[in-house]
Amino acid sequence: MSLIGPGKGFKGSISLAGDKSISHRLILFSLLHHGSFKLRNLSACDDVKTSLAAIKTLGATIDRDNTEEITIRGPDKKTAAESVEIFCGNSGTTARLLSGILAGLPGRFVLTGDNSLSQRPMQRIADPLSMMGAEIKTTKSKLPIEIIGQSRLNPITYQMPVASAQVKSAILVAATRAAGTTTISEPSPSRDHSEILLAHLGAKLQCKDNQISLDGPFLSRGDYCFNIPADVSSAAFFVVAALLIPQSEISIENVLLNPTRTHFLQVLKRMGANIQTSITANNFELTGTIKAAYSPKLQSTDILPEEVPALIDEIPAISTAMAFAKGVSTIKGAQELRVKESDRIKVLCEAFRACGIKVEENDEGYSITGTEEISSEHRLKTYSDHRMAAAFSILALKSKSGIFVEDLDSVKISFPEFFSIFLPCFNARL
Ligand code: S3P
Repeated sequence: MSLIGPGKGFKGSISLAGDKSISHRLILFSLLHHGSFKLRNLSACDDVKTSLAAIKTLGATIDRDNTEEITIRGPDKKTAAESVEIFCGNSGTTARLLSGILAGLPGRFVLTGDNSLSQRPMQRIADPLSMMGAEIKTTKSKLPIEIIGQSRLNPITYQMPVASAQVKSAILVAATRAAGTTTISEPSPSRDHSEILLAHLGAKLQCKDNQISLDGPFLSRGDYCFNIPADVSSAAFFVVAALLIPQSEISIENVLLNPTRTHFLQVLKRMGANIQTSITANNFELTGTIKAAYSPKLQSTDILPEEVPALIDEIPAISTAMAFAKGVSTIKGAQELRVKESDRIKVLCEAFRACGIKVEENDEGYSITGTEEISSEHRLKTYSDHRMAAAFSILALKSKSGIFVEDLDSVKISFPEFFSIFLPCFNARL
């Protein structure tokens, strides 16, 4: 439990580590690839380390040189040992994407996870991957999950019941081992990094409306180099802090600007936020600069169900902005937040109430009445959820004499450098 805040305005520019979702995909997709991936600005977070450890267990080689580049080669022999157990830690992306890859590798694999990951739904990947011909057994729809992979899978046409980039990606990687066209439809668009990467590696992919088709089988080859843009979900906490703390003007460089990840900027702009973006590169993913400045006249807004998948990880940061916006904001159709690293609807509402902010919680979201001042020196529980620790740090900056936030160490899951950048920027103590 540490006392954070209050904060002061920050004027300046920052750079952040590589995007977590893209880092995971580059690491895990190396298992499907003949050749090497050289990675620059790979995220050093615990979840990404979990993916690195997983591919090592499966026979990949990982070389680091002293320029912080890392080169990965998938196993030469694309077959695995008789029975392999892989610990996926706290990482839903590792567990779900890896399941899709293992479904198409002959062998027996068991995936486990920590307490939080072991509570999260896995039937959503087991169903489509079983339809494709892999043998998958979950434990009451959760981890541990046993996968008996097959060297050839069947193509499927699949309507996803829930929009999820992890499920979509698991099916797409399995589809690279199926002879024929696999077609996936999503209720509303989620992040498309798997589609972008597979197309970049040469896969035949068609994306139209909310439907993606991939022609299998597909095996990528060659030596590739990737500059990973900064993590835009991590950037979201800095953007919101700059909007809320007087005299701030922040510039975040070389950050991911993929539109399936930047919808939170549109939401903040419609609240009256002073934000500008500019694209500086389009290597395999759009990259650029985000500038955000103190915005004293934020207005409430309503987040609709169809918007939620495109800003699922930024809802904690956006909610913090809503807490200081004029009027009542609502978040609807966000029940997926209940099955993240914590029940984020419950945990956010509990923290807002503790700060004296009026919230009304329902099954699939909540409403927040904006306020000018929050009370200080309470204790906020993060339930070991990294994005809660970061969101509550913004509340702490806005408090008069600081707020105690529990389990700050949890930021290691997605953003180990968070406090060493955030606190000096906003001149806040710990
Ligand atoms: C992710 C997808 C999202 C997101 C998670 C990362 C990804 O999860 O919340 O942090 O990298 O594909 P869902 O697919 O469960 O929505």
